[in-house]
Amino acid sequence: MNTPNRLWRIASRPTDAVSRQNFLWAEESLPEPCEGELLVRVVYLSIDPVQRYWLSPDATFGPPTDVGMPMPGRIWGVVEKSSSPAFPPGALVAGPGIWARWCTLPVAAAEPVPDWPGIPLLAHTSLFCMQALTAYFGLLEIARPRPTDTVVVSAAAGAVGSLVVQLARINGCARLVAIAGSEEKCRWLREQLGADTAINYRTMDIGQALDAACPDGIDVYYDNVGGGILDAVLARINAHARIACGGFISHYDDGGHQQGIRNFQMLALKQARAEGFSCFDYVPRAGEAFDAIRRWHEQGRISYRAHLVKGLEQAPDALAGIFAGRNTGKTVIEVSPPPPENAA
Ligand SMILES: NC(=O)c1ccc[n+]([C@@H]2O[C@H](COP(=O)([O-])OP(=O)(O)OC[C@H]3O[C@@H](n4cnc5c(N)ncnc54)[C@H](OP(=O)(O)O)[C@@H]3O)[C@@H](O)[C@H]2O)c1
Repeated sequence: MNTPNRLWRIASRPTDAVSRQNFLWAEESLPEPCEGELLVRVVYLSIDPVQRYWLSPDATFGPPTDVGMPMPGRIWGVVEKSSSPAFPPGALVAGPGIWARWCTLPVAAAEPVPDWPGIPLLAHTSLFCMQALTAYFGLLEIARPRPTDTVVVSAAAGAVGSLVVQLARINGCARLVAIAGSEEKCRWLREQLGADTAINYRTMDIGQALDAACPDGIDVYYDNVGGGILDAVLARINAHARIACGGFISHYDDGGHQQGIRNFQMLALKQARAEGFSCFDYVPRAGEAFDAIRRWHEQGRISYRAHLVKGLEQAPDALAGIFAGRNTGKTVIEVSPPPPENAA
């Protein structure tokens, strides 16, 4: 074997909570790029709740995840071999990779990472990524908050939620309520990100806490979670409320034990709207979102926090950690060091 590559292959499909047992730590030869492919040294690997969903036998979208295949994931890295003038060796690139130290990327799927002064590569993983498109378009186009609205955000200290909270503050609303799973997260949401109230759903009765935080009812709910929190919000919506259905993390890892929603009729009773959406629909408009986020970041109005985990061998535990709420901000594996000029 020449230079060995290390990668995670799928060993089995989780039936409930995902764990290290569902993956195989493989040692293989360095991949050789075919015509039209790049060889990339992976610097950062994105760990996302949807990766748990991809492992379900009934997943309806996403890359193939058969047992034995390398685990897919979005990567940022450095081109090491290329015959494409658009991606010379040494260029920074992002795209749909795998949980590996080195991987090949089809040129057609590779995205150049813009060289913006003052924006390290790590910032791209939190601010100029699919989660940012989800937050930006989900809040501003699906939910459309108005200045008089009470806005509630769940999984608010995660990658998407922490951006939604900041975007809601920038956009303007009368009351901003964040829901998260620890006191430390709630403090960050109130003191750093601008939430008026933060509810720790693990220690508080969610219904009572929403009643106290939203005395005038709820106009906008940005839902990352589904389940009981969605039900509690539905019971408190105002006429013409808008619910942006961004994700249902409480369902992904529970082995199908989640109860159904009981308060769905509130949509009719309150002439309200709940709308699902996918960030992939907004990729053609990514520039619009990224320009705005970059401007607000430069103005100090948007910040990011990465939950940076060093070492590819930690990837399965990092994925499991999302469902235990161990991350604050975007979960990213540092697979290898970033080039010094792109380091945070
Ligand atoms: N529609 C789209 O195109 C799109 C794109 C990207 C992501 N998403 C979805 O957006 C949601 C958030 O993604 P993300 O990338 O922000 O995730 P993330 O950064 O990994 O954060 C997720 C957070 O959810 C909380 N959580 C985990 N299990 C929970 C449960 N059972 N009940 C309540 N909260 C729970 C955890 O924090 P605490 O429990 O400590 O609060 C965790 O840190 C996910 O549902 C994801 O699938 C959708």
